[in-house]
Amino acid sequence: MDFLPLDIQKYVEAHSDQESEILNALNRDTHRKVLKPRMLSGHLQGRTLAMISHMIQPKCILEIGTYTGYSAICMAEGLAEGGKLITIDVNEELEGLTRSYFEKAGISQEVDYRIGNALELVPEVTETLDLVFIDADKKNYINYYNLVIDKVRPGGFIIADNVLWSGKVVAQLKKTDKETQAILDFNRLVQEEERVENVLLPIRDGLMTIRKK
Ligand SMILES: C[S@@+](CC[C@H](N)C(=O)[O-])C[C@H]1O[C@@H](n2cnc3c(N)ncnc32)[C@H](O)[C@@H]1O
Repeated sequence: MDFLPLDIQKYVEAHSDQESEILNALNRDTHRKVLKPRMLSGHLQGRTLAMISHMIQPKCILEIGTYTGYSAICMAEGLAEGGKLITIDVNEELEGLTRSYFEKAGISQEVDYRIGNALELVPEVTETLDLVFIDADKKNYINYYNLVIDKVRPGGFIIADNVLWSGKVVAQLKKTDKETQAILDFNRLVQEEERVENVLLPIRDGLMTIRKK
C-alpha cells in the first residue's frame, strides 16, 4: 500500500503533524486487538483527512466504514461549531472499542455512530452533507456514491479511500478480481461524471477527492 520510497515516506511523516496520543493509542490497540489493522487510515492519511476537514469546516460529515474510529476522530477535528459526524459500520463487534475512543477523544456528543449495513442506513440519512468519506466494502462504492450524491450540498465533497487498491488498478493481471474491478468501475464513473470535479490524490492507497459542482 505504500507507494513512496521508505525514506521519502519517513521525511513526509516527520514534516507533518504527529498523531495525538489518543490516535496513537487507538492505532496500537487496533493492531493488538482487531483483525486486519491495516484498514485503519493511520498517521499521514489521518492528518490529511483532518486538514481537509479543517479546510471545509463541515456542519455534517457522513462516514461509511467506521472500523475502530480512527478516521472519524480525525475528520471530527474540523467540524464547525455545533456540527456532527454520522458514521456507519456493519461490524457490531467493534462497537465497544470504538465508542471508548470517541469518548477519550471527547467527541461522543458530536458523533452519531450507527451500526448496520450502510446500503440500508445511508438512505435514512436526511441531513445535507458537506463531506462524505467512503471507506467500506469496495464492491459497493458505486452504490454508496449514488446513495449520497443527492444528499451532498453543491460545493460539498466526497472522498473515497483505496482507489489505487495497492496498485492493482494498473497491474496487468490475466484475470481481474471482483474488488479491483469494482474500484476500476468506480474510478471510471467518477472520471466521466459531469456533476462533479475530481482529483485522485496518491496518498497511502489513493484518495479519490470529489467536489460536487
Ligand atoms: C477500511 S475499514 C474502515 C477504516 C476506517 N475508516 C479508518 O480509516 O480507520 C472498512 C469498514 O467497513 C465496514 N463495512 C464493510 N461493509 C459494510 C457495509 N455494507 N455497511 C457498513 N459497513 C461496512 C467494515 O466492517 C470495516 O469496519
